[in-house]
Amino acid sequence: MGAIASDAVSDTTPDFLDDVLTGLQRRPKQIAPKYFYDRAGSDLFDRICDLPEYYPTRTELSILECHAGDMASAIGANALLIEPGCGGCTKVRYLLDALDQPAGFVPVEISGEHMLENLAPLRAQYPELPLHPVCADFTQPFELPTACDQNARRVLFFPGSTIGNFMPREAEDLMCALRDLVGSDGMLLLGVDQVKQTLVLEQAYNDQAGVTAAFNRNLLHRINTELEADFRLENFRHKALWNAHEQRIEMHLVSAQRQRVHIDGHGIDFQPGETLITEYSYKYTDARLAALATTCGFRVRQRWTDARDWFAIYLLDTK
Ligand code: AVJ
Repeated sequence: MGAIASDAVSDTTPDFLDDVLTGLQRRPKQIAPKYFYDRAGSDLFDRICDLPEYYPTRTELSILECHAGDMASAIGANALLIEPGCGGCTKVRYLLDALDQPAGFVPVEISGEHMLENLAPLRAQYPELPLHPVCADFTQPFELPTACDQNARRVLFFPGSTIGNFMPREAEDLMCALRDLVGSDGMLLLGVDQVKQTLVLEQAYNDQAGVTAAFNRNLLHRINTELEADFRLENFRHKALWNAHEQRIEMHLVSAQRQRVHIDGHGIDFQPGETLITEYSYKYTDARLAALATTCGFRVRQRWTDARDWFAIYLLDTK
């Protein structure tokens, strides 16, 4: 599926070179945001989450903190919890602490190395919980391990507004695939950043300390080190803006001058002011999210938000 997924890919794959070269042949030039997350990029993202301007992570955590109990009662007992790309598995702990006798937890992680790092502490903290890790790219079809309780209701936990990295058509494809995965009695607990004042949105991606700019430019550094390229980072300017028509934040790297970059022997020309798109982060209104859910055979059963209605966690069930 899509060019725009935000799952962490920290191992260099043969796809990386292909995807970069193909993306740089597009007009405008574009590289998928999933490539942000090498070791340095993941560390920069952790720092973004602590920035005063970057509200999504802390807002979503506050919603989980307040409402995990309600979420757990709405989900019910003996659910099999599945989380695509669980990262440090911080958020899911709120649910694991609140759920009544979960049938198990299935973290789905693209990098086996990440998975091992994250699972040991989880295993120690929840010794009774059956853990069934899957190493897969969640944007591709994957099977649940046979050891999972096959009769348990499946509940997908998809926080972090990761859905926002997908173009509308791709978001539909993904939600429909998730609907197939959970089956007719399953649920989806989905964290979604909401449309809000432009200033708040733009400041979240243009922080004073310049961490988001460093995160954006780190993509070029990663290409230099992993793909034998010679991007000069100082020749690219970070730009992030709200596109009201498309309802998305766009992150760009803008070429400060005419320049040629070499990647694995290929010459790539940039015009002065030419842009390279590195990320779309779609924000949803309640109406648009409900429409997306309906298209994919889900229905909004409950919605939890913060006092400012900046972020929402939706519980979707199937019709
Ligand atoms: C991890 C995709 C939710 O879109 O806000 C943060 C990534 N990019 N700052 C987002 C990100 C720049 C983030 N997501």
